[in-house]
Amino acid sequence: MCGIIGYIGNKPANEVIFDGLTRLEYRGYDSAGIAVVDNQKIHVRKDIGKLRNIRKLLVDDFSSDSSIGIGHTRWATHGRPSAFNAHPHGDCQTSLMVAHNGIIENFMKLKKRLASEGHEFKSETDSEVLAHLIESHYDGNLKSAVIEALKDVEGAYAIAVLHKNHPDELVCIRKESPLIVGLGNEENFIASDVTAILQYTRSVVYLDNFEGAVVKRDGVEFFTIEGEKVEKNAVQVEWNPVAAEKGGFSHFMLKEIFEQPQVIRNTIGGRTSEEEGKIYLEELRLTGPDIYRTQRIVIVGCGTAFYSGCVGKYLIEKLVQIPVECDLASEFRYRSPLVDANTLVIAISQSGETADTLAAVKEAKKRGAKVLGVVNAKESSMTREVDGLVYIHAGPEIGVASTKAYIAMLTALTLLALMLGKIRSVLDPEFVKEKIKELKILPQQIERVLDKHEEIKELASQFLHAKSFLYLGRGFNYPTALEGALKLKEISYIHAEAYAAGEMKHGPIALIDDEMPVMAIVTQSDVYDKTLSNLKEVQARSGQLIVVVTEGDGEIAHLTDCKIEVPAVSEILSPIINVIPLQLFAYYVADLRGLDVDQPRNLAKSVTVE
Ligand code: F6R
Repeated sequence: MCGIIGYIGNKPANEVIFDGLTRLEYRGYDSAGIAVVDNQKIHVRKDIGKLRNIRKLLVDDFSSDSSIGIGHTRWATHGRPSAFNAHPHGDCQTSLMVAHNGIIENFMKLKKRLASEGHEFKSETDSEVLAHLIESHYDGNLKSAVIEALKDVEGAYAIAVLHKNHPDELVCIRKESPLIVGLGNEENFIASDVTAILQYTRSVVYLDNFEGAVVKRDGVEFFTIEGEKVEKNAVQVEWNPVAAEKGGFSHFMLKEIFEQPQVIRNTIGGRTSEEEGKIYLEELRLTGPDIYRTQRIVIVGCGTAFYSGCVGKYLIEKLVQIPVECDLASEFRYRSPLVDANTLVIAISQSGETADTLAAVKEAKKRGAKVLGVVNAKESSMTREVDGLVYIHAGPEIGVASTKAYIAMLTALTLLALMLGKIRSVLDPEFVKEKIKELKILPQQIERVLDKHEEIKELASQFLHAKSFLYLGRGFNYPTALEGALKLKEISYIHAEAYAAGEMKHGPIALIDDEMPVMAIVTQSDVYDKTLSNLKEVQARSGQLIVVVTEGDGEIAHLTDCKIEVPAVSEILSPIINVIPLQLFAYYVADLRGLDVDQPRNLAKSVTVE
């Protein structure tokens, strides 16, 4: 997603910054900008499009002797891709500029307050409030103004700040979004990841949450958000350029699995009010009457997107109490579907370009249904076909096997179901408040599961030679089993099938023997006891059980030693956390088998043909 770079030294700042931004291109972006200070004046250049197309504006026609500046590549979240919305953003007098990654959750409240105090806004972004907030606290000390400004801010941020009165320093600080400081010889750097600066220095300081730095040519002073000085040690980065592109991970898939806590923060960021129990889905474009008129919902998608829709069915039926049907887009489009003006069709797609899903959207519209797109890629074909949108804000997904987009789809569908349930008066506002709170702590709970990656790798190493796997789940986690099996088969080429655990007795149980590993999701839920009984049937037939269980579950101990524990969460949120160990398991099986995880055979990232 967005990338930041800051430079202070003795080279032309815009050239160094442009070079750094090109090395952040792999994160995906739709616009970019650079600001420098020259002769006590700020000069800014920004535009939409690829860096190679706007190089003329940012470098060739931007002759400046400045050797201090900041730059940014933006992946639009709040506000469409445009030159106005591109970073860096300035205050009223263009005295200072800010490049920001993350989401300011209370920006609407802050913007209203600042506007009433006379601040004039030039963009639709949440980030611009930061520039005005810092302006309102500035009295000659930039570091203090930044610290004071952030006291009002809720959300995630990594920021770099440039001020015309301070041509010898940059200020940066972070909370939740990553930020590093690179140490050079009479030059120093700020960047959202090391890729941007590796060609200049390998000596890097990783800022922790709530830590910042005043970065000068000849030194860096680190501080905490309370303004206290803090000592930080530099580390020497030993990456080759390809590893650097992947942020140090061996594959994009693994990097994307580890990005998931941040992806959830981005998907919910700025869309909820915990105090009021409200959810805002800005591009939904469904009116009250549209929502009340809906008698049926049909969800369509392909592959992983379809499985997220299967979770959506459980969510919407429980929270909104509208009947939901879930259909593969490739089936829906050819089966004369019964949809009409009282049907809401929800089409889910990461790429927004999947041919079958696009055809299903067109078919549904032809039959008079309203169509809502749950989409990742901005400006994709699907965004132009649908009546309303819920962007999932997963950022660019490069690994062919979808991981973070699935998590973002589930999070977006949860927000949608809570919102519709509240509007249709099915849900009590207190319930919605409670779920918003739980959603917000989910990223930390997922981080705890990610911390178990070595344990999951060890487990995976025991099953490298299995010929076939069975995945079992029930209720909300039946789709988790489907998605887990899909991940395993597409990257490890091991046959894997998923069943609703209650179906075992109706056929698949015949497959069980001591060579058949069975991966079961049996976390605490309304169907826990039922699932446990199904697993006892597997154990009685010598099947090798691997289970995903809730932390502290004592009952499972006598069934198997192969278990992965996950933190306890509400049943409606459990598919979001339970799929994480399954993604890691599939990843390690494939990697340990020596396979090309990011480019599995026969698969393409975006299936634009039938
Ligand atoms: C599986 C996977 C595919 C996609 C499917 C739909 O890991 O990536 O199954 O989920 O091709 O793609 P989108 O979401 O782009 O429509």
